[in-house]
Amino acid sequence: MLIFSKKADLKAHLQHHIQAGTTIGFVPTMGALHSGHLSLMQQSVAQNGITVVSIFVNPTQFNNPEDLEKYPRTLEADAEKIQGLNRDIIIFAPTVDDMYEGHTISQHYNFDGLENQMEGAHRPGHFDGVGTVVKKLFEIVQPTRAYFGEKDFQQLQIVKKLVEKENMPIQIIGCPISREESGLAMSSRNERLSAEERHGAAFIYQVLQEARTRFAQESIDSVKSYVAQEFKAHPEFVPEYFEIADEDTLIPATLKENRKYRAFIAVFLGNVRLIDNISLN
Ligand code: PAF
Repeated sequence: MLIFSKKADLKAHLQHHIQAGTTIGFVPTMGALHSGHLSLMQQSVAQNGITVVSIFVNPTQFNNPEDLEKYPRTLEADAEKIQGLNRDIIIFAPTVDDMYEGHTISQHYNFDGLENQMEGAHRPGHFDGVGTVVKKLFEIVQPTRAYFGEKDFQQLQIVKKLVEKENMPIQIIGCPISREESGLAMSSRNERLSAEERHGAAFIYQVLQEARTRFAQESIDSVKSYVAQEFKAHPEFVPEYFEIADEDTLIPATLKENRKYRAFIAVFLGNVRLIDNISLN
C-alpha cells in the first residue's frame, strides 16, 4: 500500500495516471476513520480507476485551539483500516509544513452566503479554512470525483460552490450519513465521549426524527419550540443551534414554501461538540 507524506511525491506518482486518463476518486479526511469514511472510500473504489484518501488534521479550520489539540490522530490504525478495505487505495498524509509551507493561514472566501449560516456563524473562519485546504488538496490530487459525507451538509454545499467558483472540473458527490446502531451520526469526535455519553447521544437523532414527523403537520416555530423543550428537559445537552433551513441556500426558514428543507443541529455533550442534520421533506 502506498502512503505519501509529501505533496510533490504524490503529484509525481499521480502524473502517469492523469496522463493515461485514469479516473481518480478522492476522499479527503482528517483521519480517526470510522465506517462512515470507509463507505465513502468503497463508493470511490467502485466508481474510479484509482482512489486517493487524504489524512490531514487541518489547523486552519479549527476556531477552537483545544478542539484542534484534542482531535484524535491515529495514522497507523487508519492505514490498517484502509488496507483492510482495499490495498490499492493511495494514502496522502502530509505534514502541516508540507501543506502550508510556513504560511498556516486561510484564504478568505465568498461562498454566496452559504458560509454565514449555522457552522459558519458559530465557528468564525471555519469555512475559509475548509475552502483553503480543500482547494489545495484538489490541486494536488486533481480528482475526477470527490466524496463528502452529508453529516457535514453545509460543508458539502460549500465545496460544491468552491468548485463552481474556481472552475474546477471535479464532480462532488454527497453520501448519506452513516449512523451507529443507536442512530448517533458517526463522527471522529464520538471517540471523545464516555461509553455512557455515547449511548445517551442517540437522543440527538431521536429529536431530529420527531422534528421531521412534526414538520409534516406543524409550523416551523412549533417544531423549533418542541426541540427547545426537549433539550431543556435534558440539560446534559447544551444546544448551540437548531435551524430549519432551505437545503440549497441554507437560509433559515420561518414559513414553509414549496422547497426542500433540512433540520440542522449542533449540541455540546460535556465538552464534545456534535452536529447532525435530517432531510424534512
Ligand atoms: O470533513 C472533514 O473531515 C474536513 O473538513 C475536510 C473536508 C477533510 C477538510 O479538512
